[in-house]
Amino acid sequence: MAFPQHRLRRLRSNPTLRRMVRQTRLSVDQLIFPMFVRPGNHIHNPIKSMPGQFQYSIDTLAHECKEVADLGIPAVLLFGIPEEKDAVGSQSARPDGVIQKAVSRIKVACPELMVITDVCLCEYTDHGHCGLITERGGNWVVDNDATVQLLVDQALSHVQAGADMVAPSDMMDGRVAAIRYGLDQAGFHHVPIMSYAAKYASSYYGPFREAAESPPKFGDRQSYQMDIANSDEALREVAVDVEEGADIVMVKPALHYLDIIWRVRQRFSLPVAAYHVSGEYSAIKAAAARGWLDEKAGVLESTLAIRRAGADLILTYFAKDLAQWIREGL
Ligand code: PBG
Ligand code: ZN
Repeated sequence: MAFPQHRLRRLRSNPTLRRMVRQTRLSVDQLIFPMFVRPGNHIHNPIKSMPGQFQYSIDTLAHECKEVADLGIPAVLLFGIPEEKDAVGSQSARPDGVIQKAVSRIKVACPELMVITDVCLCEYTDHGHCGLITERGGNWVVDNDATVQLLVDQALSHVQAGADMVAPSDMMDGRVAAIRYGLDQAGFHHVPIMSYAAKYASSYYGPFREAAESPPKFGDRQSYQMDIANSDEALREVAVDVEEGADIVMVKPALHYLDIIWRVRQRFSLPVAAYHVSGEYSAIKAAAARGWLDEKAGVLESTLAIRRAGADLILTYFAKDLAQWIREGL
């Protein structure tokens, strides 16, 4: 037998053949576009650390959502920046809050677009933490159970305004069960929950905190978000959320946690979402702006890697670019 016996290059020898044997594919159906909304009118504020991303007011958001839907993107994830913040995030569950008003507006403007709302307190609290702060033994702590009650109220108010799905991102224990119960009691048993199940205390959320105006004023989020060194714990987090009734589980960030996406995919049989977060977006943008990286190639490679690791759905600030490139045949 002549050397080499196996010629794997055979299947790489022409572009049509490569297209046929390509194993992982990107589809616009898998994309969710995160967006930021604040009170006011005609607002289209560039977010400095996230070139190409904006804070919208409700009118401009509705307009942008039309464009998103026209690109074939099935869903948006909304983050709200309230008029006022206080210690308990009072604006978070008001029927006339910024998210609640935005949701009802979008559902009229683009009824087919799936509107998912982020449920958390950090955008609404003046201290910027994802829950209520209390004092224990001379130290501040985030009060899990009191926070969960407020998250239920917030989730319910989003759904009453017309949200199609809620996505709790706080990392309190027991919140998925409590939100599920609260929604069911109010007759919203048909509304799914996408839980941020394995959410790490990552440094890659920095640009988001500028966008959502939600950096913690003291301390950090390590007492509720996961230690970046842990992986088995992610499986426990996911198992608990599945047990509590989550319909979709999310791993966050995405690109730096491909091993976690893979393990969750292998172990569980519900849809897995991955959040390609703000810092991952900004890093690509910054390198591309300096000419150190081909932006399109870099974005396609990153997104494909997240899919290859096993994510069914991808939350990404590149959703519009990806939709356009997919439409053009990549
Ligand atoms: C709020 C929340 C954060 C993100 C999504 N929801 C920030 C944080 O936890 O500090 C990060 C998203 C991103 O970086 O793109 N709980
Ligand atoms: Zn939060």
